[in-house]
Amino acid sequence: MTVGIPIRRLWPEPSTEPLDDAALTALYRRGDQPRLRVNFVASLDGAVSVGGYSAGLSGEPDKRVFGLLRMLCDALVVAAGTLRHEGYRAVRLDEGRRAWRRANGVAAYPTLVVVSGSLDLDPAQAAFADAPVRPIVLTRADADPPPGLTDVADLLRCGTDRVDLAAGLAELHRRGLTQLLCEGGPHLLGALTAADLVDELCLTVAPLLAGPGAGRITAGDAGAPRHLPLRHVLAADDGVLMLRHARG
Ligand SMILES: NC(=O)c1ccc[n+]([C@@H]2O[C@H](COP(=O)([O-])OP(=O)(O)OC[C@H]3O[C@@H](n4cnc5c(N)ncnc54)[C@H](OP(=O)(O)O)[C@@H]3O)[C@@H](O)[C@H]2O)c1
Repeated sequence: MTVGIPIRRLWPEPSTEPLDDAALTALYRRGDQPRLRVNFVASLDGAVSVGGYSAGLSGEPDKRVFGLLRMLCDALVVAAGTLRHEGYRAVRLDEGRRAWRRANGVAAYPTLVVVSGSLDLDPAQAAFADAPVRPIVLTRADADPPPGLTDVADLLRCGTDRVDLAAGLAELHRRGLTQLLCEGGPHLLGALTAADLVDELCLTVAPLLAGPGAGRITAGDAGAPRHLPLRHVLAADDGVLMLRHARG
C-alpha cells in the first residue's frame, strides 16, 4: 500500500513515478549473506536529534522506510541508551507486514536485541514487557541483571570488560538472525564502526538546519574511517533525502 508523500529515486536510475511499497521493498531487499544495516535520520547540518529526540527530524516518508526496514530484518539491534531515552515500545508490525514476512519465510516479528554493558534496564518497559518475541540482551560476562529482567529477556554474554560486538553478532547469525537492522544510537554506531561491523548505512537527511548543540549520528572513541559506497538516492516531495550506502 502506498500512501502519503511521494518518494522517487534520483540515482542511479531516476524514476518519474513515485515508488510504491513493493518497489521500496525491492530497493532495500534482504541479502543472501549475514548483514548489519544501520538506519539513522539527521538534519542537514548533521544533528542526530532536535530537543534531544529523533522525532523532530523524522517525517512521514522517513517513517515509511523505517517501518519497511523493520519488516525486512530478522533482528532489530538497539543500544540501551536509545532504548531508555526514546522509550522504546514492543516491536510490532501490522498484519500486511506480518503477511509479507510469512510469505517470504521470515518469522512473524523481528527479535529485539538490546546492547547494554550495565544492564541498567527496566523489565517493565514495553519493549520487554509487551514483546511478541522474547528479546535478547547482549551484555558483558559479569553484568548483574536487575530483578525481573531474565523473566522477560534472554541474556547473551559476550566480552569481559565491555560488550564484544563482533562475537555478539556472530552468535546472532548462528541463531539464524542474519539480517540485522541497527537503529542506533550514536555510541553503538561509533563502536560498530571501530570494529568494522557496519555493512550498510541508510541515512535520511531532513531538510532542516537544527543549529548547534546536538551530537552527530556517531559518538565515542575515534577509530579508522571506513569507506561505504553510495548505492541509491531517494527523494521525497517534502525535500527529504534518503541515502543508502553499502559495501560490496
Ligand atoms: N537520529 C536518529 O536516527 C537517532 C537514532 C538513535 C538514537 N538517537 C538519539 O541518540 C541519543 C541516545 O544516544 P546515546 O548517547 O545514549 O547512545 P546509544 O548508542 O544509544 O547508547 C549507548 C549505550 O549502549 C550500550 N552499549 C553497550 N555496549 C556498547 C558498546 N560496545 N558500544 C557502545 N554502546 C554500548 C551502553 O549501555 P549501558 O549504559 O546500559 O551499558 C551505552 O551506554 C538520543 O538523543 C536519541 O534520540 C537518534
